[in-house]
This record gives sequence, structure tokens and C-alpha cells, in this order.
Amino acid sequence: MRTYATPGREASVRAPPVAPPQTRPHEGAQPVQTTTAHQHAYLLGHSDEEINRLILQSSFLNDLTRHMLVDAGLTPGMRVLDIGTGAGDVALLAAEIVGAEGEVVGIDINGEVLDIARTRADEAGLTNVRFIETDLRAMAFVEAFDAAVGRLILIHSGDPVAALTAAARTVRPGGIIAFQDFNLLEDSIRSYPPHPLVTVVNRWICESAARAGLICDIGYRLFSCFIAAGLPEPELRCGSPMGCGTSWDGYVWAAESVRSFLPAITQTEVATAEEVDIDSLAARLRTEVGASGSVLRAPDVISAWTRKPL
Ligand SMILES: C[S@@+](CC[C@H](N)C(=O)[O-])C[C@H]1O[C@@H](n2cnc3c(N)ncnc32)[C@H](O)[C@@H]1O
Repeated sequence: MRTYATPGREASVRAPPVAPPQTRPHEGAQPVQTTTAHQHAYLLGHSDEEINRLILQSSFLNDLTRHMLVDAGLTPGMRVLDIGTGAGDVALLAAEIVGAEGEVVGIDINGEVLDIARTRADEAGLTNVRFIETDLRAMAFVEAFDAAVGRLILIHSGDPVAALTAAARTVRPGGIIAFQDFNLLEDSIRSYPPHPLVTVVNRWICESAARAGLICDIGYRLFSCFIAAGLPEPELRCGSPMGCGTSWDGYVWAAESVRSFLPAITQTEVATAEEVDIDSLAARLRTEVGASGSVLRAPDVISAWTRKPL
């Protein structure tokens, strides 16, 4: 049984059971991939902990994402495609913006995580969102969208130019293409004054991500990837969540991110499970970094958007 939680402290990462999967009609999407293919598609998997982490992470990123969607030109009544929707957070944001007259379709290669997304849309009373299991490389829709958007998908895509090309194919001429991604580089998660525990958390995540084949400089490459996909020059923005003190929930986000990367961290020999000591990490960050007065800055979130030529 899948569980998910609303954002919170170390003790509240688990939460109530989720309703069983529902079957939804989907027009025009091509057949889904096999379970084996799913297992290789997303480095961090879709454990309950990872789904809860995505939802917690959204509470830090959603302001930046809402800004991008509005600045890119999303307006009420539009039809929007959210690529790599995960637990549905960007789709839910887009659904608020386009309103009841609009429509949002979220796609993900993993069908199980979409059950959570559907439950969350139902709980939010949103009737203008639906979710379809498909690989972005295989997606095909009968009707063109006004916008194709995605957050933290290109870094996992293997081929961001191909992913952007596929996204652009789903959009009408003049439609919006807007994507947001992290850079995961040597100075991505940092603190001031520099705290050694933050430095090592950054190393665990960013080195294992690089060794596992994620596109860790994707934020800086968004501009050139848009151009290589045949799109006009995109607008760029950069923002990053920050926090300090002992009551900030960013420590839980950081520790749960390390938890999701832990198989990659150990398999790529960046660190051992004993060195990471995952179950105490959030509390150590809170007491050691928070109490030290150091300010922690999460990875840069880079936004890029443009319009498909008429
Ligand atoms: C880091 S999560 C981001 C989820 C969501 N966009 C958010 O910001 O919360 C990346 C998602 O992309 C999905 N994904 C990875 N490769 C994919 C592909 N080829 N086609 C469709 N979805 C994919 C994964 O299953 C995962 O749910």
C-alpha cells in the first residue's frame, strides 16, 4: 500500500493510506512501457519515502515554479502538459492557473506514482487534471497543447534535447515550452559560514548523481538544449530556497534527498551507509548546522521558457 505525507518534520514523513488505482481514459497516448523499463528510468525510484520527498520538495520549489509558469504565459483556459509529473505537484499548480475552463494532463513513465497524483488532485477538488502513464519519448496526443512544462525531468532524461524536441511536438505553433531543473555541481548545496556537514551532504548527492549518469549541469545547459531542439532562445531565471535556524524543514528535505540517493551513493562508492547514517541525518543537520547559525542554500533551480515558432 502506498502512503504519502504532507510536508513536515522528521517524525511526520509517513502518513495516511492512499485509495487504490483508478483507470482513466487517455486519448492518443501510445502504449506504456514495461515494469522493467520503469525500474531503469528514474534513478531515485518511487518508494513511499521518495514520493513523500517529492511532495516535501515541492513545498520549497512551488513558488519558483508558479513564477515560471505565469512568466512563461500560462493563463486561464489553456491546455497544459506536465512531463514527468511524479506525484503531480506541477500539474496541480498549472491546474490552479488555467482554472476550470482549462485542462492539465500529467504524464509519467511510472504508473504507480500517478495513483498518488490522482488522489491528490481529487483531494484538492481539481476536476481539470488527469494523469497518463507513458514515456515522454513515446508520447503522442491527438490534440496539441497550449503549453508543455516540466520540473526536474530533463536532469533524468538521458537526452534533454530529445526530450525538449518531444515536448515541442506536443505543443501548437505559438505555444509555450517551459522547464525547470537543478544544477547538481560541487557548490550546489552550500552554507555560509561554510559548515562541513553541508559540504559533505552536497558531495554525497552531487558526486553520486554524476557517477550514476545524471546530467548534473543541466541548469546551465538549458539555453543550448532549447536551441539544439530547434526552439527560439529561451528566457532564463535562477532561484534557490534558503533557510537557517533550528525550526526550518529544509534539513528534512536535505536528509530525505540523501535517503533517496543512498543506493546510488553506496553503489558508486561515494560513501558507505555507515558514514551517511541516514536515520540521524535530519536531526544532525538541524542541531549542528541550524544551531551554528550557518545559512543553508539549496541547489539553484534554473527556469527556461520560450514559444514554439508560428
Ligand atoms: C524528480 S521527479 C520530478 C517530479 C515532478 N516533476 C516534481 O517536480 O515534483 C522526475 C519524474 O520524472 C519521471 N520520468 C523519468 N523519466 C521519464 C520518462 N522518460 N518519461 C516520463 N517520465 C519520466 C520519473 O518517473 C519521476 O516521477
